[in-house]
Amino acid sequence: MQYRRMGKSGLRLSELSFGSWITFGRQTDLSSTRSLMRQAFDAGVNFFDNAEGYGAGAAESLMGEVLKDFRRSDVVLSTKIFHGGTGPNDMGLSHKHLIEGTHASLERLRTDYVDLLFCHRPDPNTPIEETVRAMDVLVRQGKTFYWGTSEWSADQISEAVRIARECNAAPPAMEQPQYNLLHRQRMEREYEPVFERHELGATIWSPLASGLLSGKYDKEIPKGSRLDLIDWLRATRTEANLKQVRAVAEVAKELDCSLAQLAIAWCLKNPRVSSVILGASRPEQLTENLAALKLVPRLDARIMAELDRRCPVRAAS
Ligand SMILES: NC(=O)c1ccc[n+]([C@@H]2O[C@H](COP(=O)([O-])OP(=O)(O)OC[C@H]3O[C@@H](n4cnc5c(N)ncnc54)[C@H](OP(=O)(O)O)[C@@H]3O)[C@@H](O)[C@H]2O)c1
Repeated sequence: MQYRRMGKSGLRLSELSFGSWITFGRQTDLSSTRSLMRQAFDAGVNFFDNAEGYGAGAAESLMGEVLKDFRRSDVVLSTKIFHGGTGPNDMGLSHKHLIEGTHASLERLRTDYVDLLFCHRPDPNTPIEETVRAMDVLVRQGKTFYWGTSEWSADQISEAVRIARECNAAPPAMEQPQYNLLHRQRMEREYEPVFERHELGATIWSPLASGLLSGKYDKEIPKGSRLDLIDWLRATRTEANLKQVRAVAEVAKELDCSLAQLAIAWCLKNPRVSSVILGASRPEQLTENLAALKLVPRLDARIMAELDRRCPVRAAS
């Protein structure tokens, strides 16, 4: 495992990290969560990702229980605030919800601070200045070391940086976008100038497009798989996506690796990526996905060009 600097910060993230969306608390119990996190950590993973909205807090509670086994300074822990519940002030990025949501997350995670705190989505109903000031309070109070955004537009990120400079507040240090062979536009085009100018880190999510890029959805939706469990995700199993997945499978065959490994290794080739957040519901998946590291040096210019041809940047994705 290698460790990459998160943007221009001094923080080092394992290039592969481990997340909890949908899996923790729904597909895993305490014992299997513990085994998966230990497996990841033993392979060199130092960064674990969470959010207040995952399983309505259940994913944080499970992770918090398991983290008691670890030395706090050995792990980089993140959570995200936005989807805190159904009450009028339980959602979004108001000063009130950011502070209260973070306190509740820290309680569930059984820690005094997270290393990374993300604004899980942009909030059209809160001025960016209010959000920047609230995140600055959390940084100054030591509740988080760095704050960042997830799926904000490039313009919104630039605006947050500008406001932070103006009020001498901590600026965002990282973004958390979706990035995979089927979803390249935002990371590679929209964010490029903003990443260049502000040297933000990128902790990217869904490297397998929720499992599509493992190839297992080619013929059907296997029982108990994510697309079987989550109705709205089924819409991503389009003929266009399946066609591209099959085209990537041919390259994986040539390299004698699994499709999932190729998809993950491809994400790591992008130097803007600070960490690729893996998801896995089972230990075999994690073993397979962690082995993607060995493949990275084999993705030479010819293979990368081949993947570019088969999965070009799509404006709509
Ligand atoms: N910031 C955000 O808005 C945001 C959004 C989404 C995710 N995230 C974070 O990013 C993390 C990773 O995203 P993700 O979970 O969507 O990643 P992903 O790698 O795209 O999907 C992971 C899922 O694919 C299936 N899978 C994984 N490896 C496989 C393999 N080798 N063979 C077959 N199936 C395999 C598993 O689902 P099944 O076994 O259930 O089919 C697994 O849970 C999340 O856990 C979360 O922490 C952040």
